[in-house]
Amino acid sequence: MSGLEGIKKITELNLKDKRVFIRVDFNVPIENGKIVDDFRIRAALPTIKYALEQEAKVIIASHMGRPKTDEDKKNMSLEAVAERLRELLECDVIFVHEPEGNAPKGLFPALKRNQLLLLENLRFSEGEESNAHEMASQLASYTDIYINDAFGASHRAHASIVGLPSIVKDKGIGFLIEKEITMLDRVLYKTESPFLAVLGGSKVSDKIGMIENMLSRIDTFLIGGAMAYTFLSAKNTPIGNSRVETAKLSLAKELIERIHGRDKKLLLPIDHVIVQDLKPGAEHKTTTNEIIPEGWMAVDIGPKTRQLYANEILRAATLFWNGPMGVYEMKPFDQGTMAIANAFAETNGTSIIGGGDSAAAIKAAGLEDKMDHISTGGGASLEYLEGSKLPGLEVLRQGKAKS
Ligand code: 3PG
Repeated sequence: MSGLEGIKKITELNLKDKRVFIRVDFNVPIENGKIVDDFRIRAALPTIKYALEQEAKVIIASHMGRPKTDEDKKNMSLEAVAERLRELLECDVIFVHEPEGNAPKGLFPALKRNQLLLLENLRFSEGEESNAHEMASQLASYTDIYINDAFGASHRAHASIVGLPSIVKDKGIGFLIEKEITMLDRVLYKTESPFLAVLGGSKVSDKIGMIENMLSRIDTFLIGGAMAYTFLSAKNTPIGNSRVETAKLSLAKELIERIHGRDKKLLLPIDHVIVQDLKPGAEHKTTTNEIIPEGWMAVDIGPKTRQLYANEILRAATLFWNGPMGVYEMKPFDQGTMAIANAFAETNGTSIIGGGDSAAAIKAAGLEDKMDHISTGGGASLEYLEGSKLPGLEVLRQGKAKS
């Protein structure tokens, strides 16, 4: 079973001299006009390079952030990405300010072999997020072949993800999506036991779907981050002032029972790093057990938990991780998350990182090369593992073209 059934790969399409629209996810963090992490850009390079090698006329498009105001527009332009692409590809990247204008049509005929077009942030156009037919038709008017390599945005039914490929007949996926789905399918269908999932981050609600869909396959759940305190609270463990999703307490209780009922392990923190005030440089201490005193809140898993979790990680054959173990962006409360990153680097099991903050932590620790796969899409990988169909993939399955 493969999530790619019925979807053409880029290598199955004849790209020569065709206008190939490659939708990528270049939603990268930018600070003071500079890209601070170009992982997503580098991840899409094999597809872009392949299209150029095949002598296609390449046009690349992406969204960036969630622009609402004119001020947002100033900070969310893809111009910095154009610059980075020029360096990485060593080719001429022509920046097109108006994706909905006629500029691409005019530029294509004279496009040289070492040149490509990059559109401005698609979300500056009103029709992108609403999947407006006018926008999709405009993009389609200069597209012969559509390639989706934007795994991180494939759970969004937007004009460049769904509307455009619904119109274009020749379409498929790039190498990045192929790898993402192949690796996630390994977790979904070809899991080697013991299968362990490390889940962190702030909300239980973000992970419910994934836990439910994977319940029969996952042998051990290691829980950290703020969501751990909802689980601990559901077990009536005192959690002081730690963040808790009160509305999800009964659900957490039910999940604990279901996991135990299936003879699976659900591990929660047995000690914590705690503060009274969450601020940089805050005074902190470590609890001796799972109880958090009144007036204190947990900001990281403690050393005993780190050791306990690392031991489990070293024993696992398949591993998935999504979500940090604490307030990892505020040092020294990144220690629990870093301990998980290090244990993932040491384990012999197949390690898959579900994007977002956990991917950032792995990169901060310089451990990228030690992972089997780091997903470029946090939300998209979770939705895929929840068993949801990603609209950006469904539209590419054969027989879905409207024209
Ligand atoms: C992401 O960063 O997860 C993707 O680029 C999707 O972005 P979005 O959540 O704003 O749609």
